[in-house]
Amino acid sequence: MFKFPKATIPLLLVVALAGAFVIADAQSYPSHYGFGKPATVAQQEAWNDDVNGLTGAGLPPGHGSVAAGQTLYEAKCAVCHGDFGEGENRYPVLAGGNGTLTSARPVKTVGSYWPYAPTLYDYIRRAMPFNAPGSLTNDQVYAIAAYVLNLNNLVPANAVLDAKTLAAIKMPNRNGFINEHLKPDVHAVACMTNCKKSVTITSDLARTLGITPNETGSTPDERIITGSGPAAGPSAAPAGGSAKHVASAPVAFSQIAPIVAQRCAVCHAAHPTEAGFSAAPMGIMLDTPARIAALASKIKQQAVTSHRMPIGNMTGMTDKERALLGKWIDQGAKIH
Ligand code: HEC
Ligand code: HEC
Repeated sequence: MFKFPKATIPLLLVVALAGAFVIADAQSYPSHYGFGKPATVAQQEAWNDDVNGLTGAGLPPGHGSVAAGQTLYEAKCAVCHGDFGEGENRYPVLAGGNGTLTSARPVKTVGSYWPYAPTLYDYIRRAMPFNAPGSLTNDQVYAIAAYVLNLNNLVPANAVLDAKTLAAIKMPNRNGFINEHLKPDVHAVACMTNCKKSVTITSDLARTLGITPNETGSTPDERIITGSGPAAGPSAAPAGGSAKHVASAPVAFSQIAPIVAQRCAVCHAAHPTEAGFSAAPMGIMLDTPARIAALASKIKQQAVTSHRMPIGNMTGMTDKERALLGKWIDQGAKIH
């Protein structure tokens, strides 16, 4: 939420450096910064929209019924969370799961897990719908929260929720959390006997990326494999291939295209096929060879160096695929 829009950073630098053109506002920032003005009370209030889950403090005026919520939910939420909160594909389940928390496979939902009802209001208003957060009015949020609670059998079908009635709901898992702060709830005693003599590395991804410390070298810097990719260090060897052979083997675009199509382009395309995405997120399209090549460094940053993408790894990208993609990019991201 407080993410600084990246595009504005260079702009601000330019403004700051071109100090001669800037008229500093004497009442706000120190003039040597050359930009900015104090946030108004109204602006601060617009950000200060958090709700206290326990007490409901901060819940705004407004109200909404289960019936109105059902219509809104079906239009704006069901595509991902299912008509009855059962969750489509791998999107979160919102209803059911009661009595499963202590089982081997707990189903954590709003009804089974969340301790306080006002948190539901806060969360939906801030974060949902996933593809258009912040787009709901206060009345709509009350209505949708009422419907989600009704799906969990926590309010009747004729319920109308507002600040008071929402805060009065007692959730089933209300006492399931430890509220005493600053006290660890586990008291582990480290076992330092009968330890393994040596470490066996079972994945080559970190090594391919050049972030695994080397065993040899006298300074920490020497022990880091510098540079990424197969040219610099030992590489990920697929079953059967010798590491040396693979290090020099070029990765063809034909190996990469199906990975990007399956793992990325379901969202990042002119016409995404992933439920809930009507346009390519952030305008990033990975649906033609030329677009993929042009965005190679961004792809590497998001899906190889970090695992931010695919978001929530919703398309199930494997470590091997990430390593292969990284290798192709390091070799120059050639599409011919
Ligand atoms: C495009 C798909 C999509 C749509 C549409 C959508 N959500 Fe979500 N929702 C998600 C994803 C993904 C998460 C998990 C987000 C995370 O963990 O950061 C989530 C999480 C949630 C959660 C928290 C679940 C939990 O137990 O952690 C709630 C509650 C929720 N959504 C409610 C809604 C409501 C209400 C709407 C409609 C106004 C809505 N969502 C629309 C994708 C969607
Ligand atoms: C389920 C949909 C989905 C899939 C699949 C997906 N992305 Fe994304 N991607 C997003 C969303 C949403 C954003 C917007 C940024 C955010 O929410 O962090 C995004 C943003 C990006 C960005 C811009 C990030 C920035 O901050 O500049 C890049 C680059 C990217 N994705 C690459 C990829 C690559 C590469 C893959 C496949 C390995 C992939 N994405 C798979 C949904 C997806």
